[in-house]
Amino acid sequence: MNLLKTLTLSANNFGACSGENNWSNTTSEGQFDSYNPANETAIASIYRCSKQDYDHTIAQAEKAFLSWRTIPAPKRGEIIRLIGDELRLHKDSLGNLVSLEMGKSKQEGLGEVQEMIDMADFAVGLSRMLYGKTMHSERPEHRMYEQWHPLGVVGVISAFNFPVAVWAWNAFIAAVTGNTVVWKPSPKAPLCALAVQHICNKIMAKQKLTGIFSVFITDNNELATQFVSDKRIALVSFTGSSSVGKQVSETVANRLGRSLLELSGNNAMIIDETADLKLAVPAIVFGAIGTAGQRCTTTRRLIVHENIYSKLVAALINAYQKITIGDPLNEKNLLGPLIDKAAVEHYVKTLADIKQAGGKILFGGQPLKGPGYYVEPTLVEAQNEWDVVQRETFAPILYIMKYKTLEEAIHMQNHSQYGLSSALFTNQLQHAELFLSARGSDCGIANINIGTSGAEIGGAFGGEKQTGGGREAGSDAWKAYMRRQTNTINWSHALPLAQGIKFTE
Ligand code: UN1
Repeated sequence: MNLLKTLTLSANNFGACSGENNWSNTTSEGQFDSYNPANETAIASIYRCSKQDYDHTIAQAEKAFLSWRTIPAPKRGEIIRLIGDELRLHKDSLGNLVSLEMGKSKQEGLGEVQEMIDMADFAVGLSRMLYGKTMHSERPEHRMYEQWHPLGVVGVISAFNFPVAVWAWNAFIAAVTGNTVVWKPSPKAPLCALAVQHICNKIMAKQKLTGIFSVFITDNNELATQFVSDKRIALVSFTGSSSVGKQVSETVANRLGRSLLELSGNNAMIIDETADLKLAVPAIVFGAIGTAGQRCTTTRRLIVHENIYSKLVAALINAYQKITIGDPLNEKNLLGPLIDKAAVEHYVKTLADIKQAGGKILFGGQPLKGPGYYVEPTLVEAQNEWDVVQRETFAPILYIMKYKTLEEAIHMQNHSQYGLSSALFTNQLQHAELFLSARGSDCGIANINIGTSGAEIGGAFGGEKQTGGGREAGSDAWKAYMRRQTNTINWSHALPLAQGIKFTE
C-alpha cells in the first residue's frame, strides 16, 4: 500500500513531464484533475506539460537513443528485468492505484500489473532472441543474412481502460529492441502513468541512464496531435477508438512514419448445442462485465444455438443477479463504475437506441444512483444487424441472439466492422476446427472454450478490419519495433551479378 498511500495523501501538484529521472517544474499550463470514478471525487491535480517540456522530452529521447542502441540487447534486457522486479515489489499498491483511478475491480487491477510483470519477463527472454534469418546466396562466396535494428523514438499513446499494461506491452519490447520510449497516457488515468514513470526513474537513475522511458501528461489535444505528426517519432503505437485511430494512421502515413494500431472491437462468443455451460456461463459473465465492459476485448455479442437458448438465458440471468456492484477496491465487488459521466450517458443513450430498435431488456438496463458512475450489468435480446448492436459501446451491455447452424453463427460473428476477438464454446472437434479455419472467425484472436477477453501476453495481440491490424505483446510482435536490414557480403575476388547479368565489355 505504500505507493498508494503516498500518492493519495499528497495528492496534488504533480509534475507534467519526466524523462530525465526527475519531473519538470512547469506550472504555466495550469492543472487538470484526476477523479476516482467510484465516488466522483478528485484525487489529484496534475500540471499540464508545456510545449517546451514536450520538445525537450523528445529531444532527450532522441539523444538517449544514440547510446541505448549501442548497448547489447541482452544488457538492455537486464535493465527491463530490474523494472520487472520493482513492479513485483509494488504489485499490490500499483494494482490498487489502477482500481482507484480507473475503477476496475481490485483483482483486475492486480491482473493488469501482473501483465506488466509477465511482459517484462517476456522482454528479458526476447532480448536474447531477436533472430534474423540467413539465406543461401545464388552467387559463389557470398553470404546473405538479415538483421534487425531499432527504429529510434517510439511513441506510445495508451487508453484509460488499461492504464499500465498496454504501456508495458509496447515499452518493454520497444526498449529491449533498442528504442527509446515516450508515453502519452490517457488524461483519465494520469496517476497510474506517474507511478509507473516513477518506478522507471528509480531504476534508470541507479543505472545512470536517462531518456530511455519518458512520459508527458496533458489533457491538451494539441500536444497529442503534435506528437502524432512529429517526424522524430519513428513509430506511433496507438490504443483507442477506431475513429481516432484512423486519424492517427492518416497523419502518420502522411509523413511515411509507422503506426501500430489497437482499436475498437465488437467481440462475439458463439455457444453451440454441445457447449459445457458450466464453463460458458462464467466466461460470458467475465467477458461481458469485466472492467465494466470497457475492454477492447469485452464480449458484446452472444450468439446462442436455438436448442439451448432458453436454458442459457436463464442461467445468465441467475448469474447476473449475483453480480456484486460497488467500490472496486472492495474485493467482494465484481463490477466497478464506468470511467466518467460521459460513459454513463453513453450507456443510457445506447439503451434508448436498443429499445427503439425493438430490443428486449432481459436484465438490468438502468444507471445506478451515485455517487460513482455505476450502471447495471445488462442483458438484451437483440438482432445482430441493428446499428446499435454493430456499435462498440464501452459498457457492460451484452446482446444475445439465436442461431440454427454453425455456418450461420460464424457469419453473424464475422458480420462486424471490427475484428479483434472471438470465441466458440463447443465440445465438438469439427465445430472447433471449422471456427479456427480460414472459413471461420475473421478476428485476430479466436478462442475455443475460453472467453474473448483476458488474453495471455505470449501471443500476438490485435485484430483485423477496423480494429487496425496491429499486433502487440508476444510472439513476433517485436518486429514492428525494428527495421529489417538485408546484408550481402561478397568474400570472393570477383564481382558476379545476381540474375546472371553480365556487365563487362
Ligand atoms: C484492451 O482492452 O485494450 O485480453 C486490452 C485482454 C487484456 C488486454 C485488453 N489482456 O482482455
